[in-house]
Amino acid sequence: MLDIQKIRQDFPILNEVVHGKSLVYFDNAATTQKPLIVLEALANYYGHYNANIHRGIHFLAEKATSAFEATRHKIQIFLNAPRVEEIIFTYGTTDGINLVAQSFGRSFLKEGDEIIISTLEHHSNIVPWQMLCQEKGCVLRVIPINDAGELLMDEFEKMLSERTKLVSVVHVSNALGTINPVAEIVKKAHNVGAKVLIDGAQATSHIDIDVQALDCDFYVFSLHKLYGPTGMGVLYGKTEILEAMPPYRGGGEMIKEVTFEKTTYNELPYKFEAGTPNIADVVATKMAVDYVEELGKKAIADYEQELLVYGTDALSDIEGLQIVGTAKEKVSVLSFVMEGIHPQDIGVILDQQGIAVRTGHHCTQPLMKRLGLVGTSRASFAVYNTKEEIDKLVVGLERVKKMLG
Ligand code: ALA
Repeated sequence: MLDIQKIRQDFPILNEVVHGKSLVYFDNAATTQKPLIVLEALANYYGHYNANIHRGIHFLAEKATSAFEATRHKIQIFLNAPRVEEIIFTYGTTDGINLVAQSFGRSFLKEGDEIIISTLEHHSNIVPWQMLCQEKGCVLRVIPINDAGELLMDEFEKMLSERTKLVSVVHVSNALGTINPVAEIVKKAHNVGAKVLIDGAQATSHIDIDVQALDCDFYVFSLHKLYGPTGMGVLYGKTEILEAMPPYRGGGEMIKEVTFEKTTYNELPYKFEAGTPNIADVVATKMAVDYVEELGKKAIADYEQELLVYGTDALSDIEGLQIVGTAKEKVSVLSFVMEGIHPQDIGVILDQQGIAVRTGHHCTQPLMKRLGLVGTSRASFAVYNTKEEIDKLVVGLERVKKMLG
């Protein structure tokens, strides 16, 4: 059993007062708050061993390099990746997807090849593939969903053929919370020889990730949704594929030797890490992962499910409110609409009561179109949220109804 009150003390921001009310932070799918050990790690790095990595032989440079590489090992274990060089640091999920689209996509896809995504995708898993399709003449195909927000797997199977070269799907929907059957997707895609990328942006804070069990070719995620810093992401890729891919960005660090005639490239993972990386945030990331592991992924998931059930029941009792996204397998995300009230107005009135939710299309415009909505309001729960906070949301929504309903 987790001690939630104790956990809350690890997050100083939860003591903030917003518009005269105690902050209720329900925008965790956008970004989670950071525990003190992450904040301290940042200050400690800048205050005591700020230096550029892999370049200097002085004490600070070596200390910074070893802290930086310690995070890579941590992430390898966190994902159960076979090799540490399969962990590439990026600036976030979007950056990781663009890396694969620009490097793998531009090198290995050709006219007429098909890329499959799903209706649930965030714009970051749509636009890079559209750009690639435009350039290479590839075809983008989209797995449809049912009204609950679940993928229609029969339709997916029908789409697969020898033309399918890549399947790129989200593990957990940011807008609805649906957990997709990604292991099954990987298996089916591999049967036709396609590679698979999984967008894990919303999954890593809720679900145990084992890239070997999933057998995916690429897995991408951002650390700022896992209690870590912003501007820090990870791309996992199978060695064989990463080796075959050309670099994405050119510059320092990613080279072996440079002459004006020719450049040879560094080995993995450095081949994909041109320029001075986000050292401080990489270093602090280790503390975020340590923190999550100490609490235990299963304990976090169980508690969040408890919040989801409680929140679903509580919101379902509000007349005129409809929950959007009712998949059987869901993480702790509650999207909803209220009859005759614009989502943005809901967000503004809740904010006045100190309650932070996200409103709008959640960077999933095609999904909103499929659902026939302009947007939703979304409350997304993390391990530090409580049932009392959900009660405040209910009171807040009753007030919205009174004011605008
Ligand atoms: N993708 C993030 C969200 O869903 C920003 O809010």
